[in-house]
Amino acid sequence: MRAPRIVALPGVYRPRSDTALLREALAGLSQRGPRRWLDVCTGTGALALAAHGLGAPDVTAVDIAPRAVRNTRLNALLNRARLRVLRGDLFAPVTGERFDAIVANPPYVPTPHGSRRTRGSEAWDAGPDGRLVLDRFCTEAADRLNPSGVVLLVQSSLADPARSAAMLAAGGLRVREAGRHDGPLGPIAAAREDFLRRTDRLPEEGAARESLVVLWAERPGPDRP
Ligand SMILES: C[S@@+](CC[C@H](N)C(=O)[O-])C[C@H]1O[C@@H](n2cnc3c(N)ncnc32)[C@H](O)[C@@H]1O
Repeated sequence: MRAPRIVALPGVYRPRSDTALLREALAGLSQRGPRRWLDVCTGTGALALAAHGLGAPDVTAVDIAPRAVRNTRLNALLNRARLRVLRGDLFAPVTGERFDAIVANPPYVPTPHGSRRTRGSEAWDAGPDGRLVLDRFCTEAADRLNPSGVVLLVQSSLADPARSAAMLAAGGLRVREAGRHDGPLGPIAAAREDFLRRTDRLPEEGAARESLVVLWAERPGPDRP
């Protein structure tokens, strides 16, 4: 499979290491042949297009930012890919629908109260604990899955992945870690190092590091009890 060509318009999240880590896990998931895919928080559409490139026959991409929706439509055109691209808040544009695979790289960087919003900051700003979008996603995702369907979620260790795992499990999903990358803080978190230390998201002293974690959360079904 050729990698899709991805253009990032100004103010839209340029695919980074979290995107790449989730894309690796997505390749494993595609071998199970899920038909209906949903990429929530799609940005440039990089993950939706990766799924399409891996043979997914029915892919929907959702983002709350109009420029991300335009960007994903542009990338779909550039790659001659048929995607359904919708604007809205998390699952709102697909109310009543269910999917075999849901992938998400939502905003997860802890953000001090009163931080000034900048162009594109909806891609990473996620409230003081980093969970403004994550909590809602983890509460709602299970009900959007078909039996045997899988959620793939990437987030930082700065925003409590154990809480995401517990919330997904509370929705009846079987959860495991499907990828991890340890490294220095990303650029946005690095600019907030003092805040992260003050609020115990980083140790008081020592190197400032984070892990990116991919969670695989699966709904039991007839073929996978
Ligand atoms: C970290 S970026 C990920 C982009 C892309 N999926 C990737 O991995 O490169 C997060 C995206 O989530 C979108 N977003 C933020 N809050 C959202 C919400 N409540 N519902 C849908 N999309 C949201 C942002 O506009 C941004 O495009």
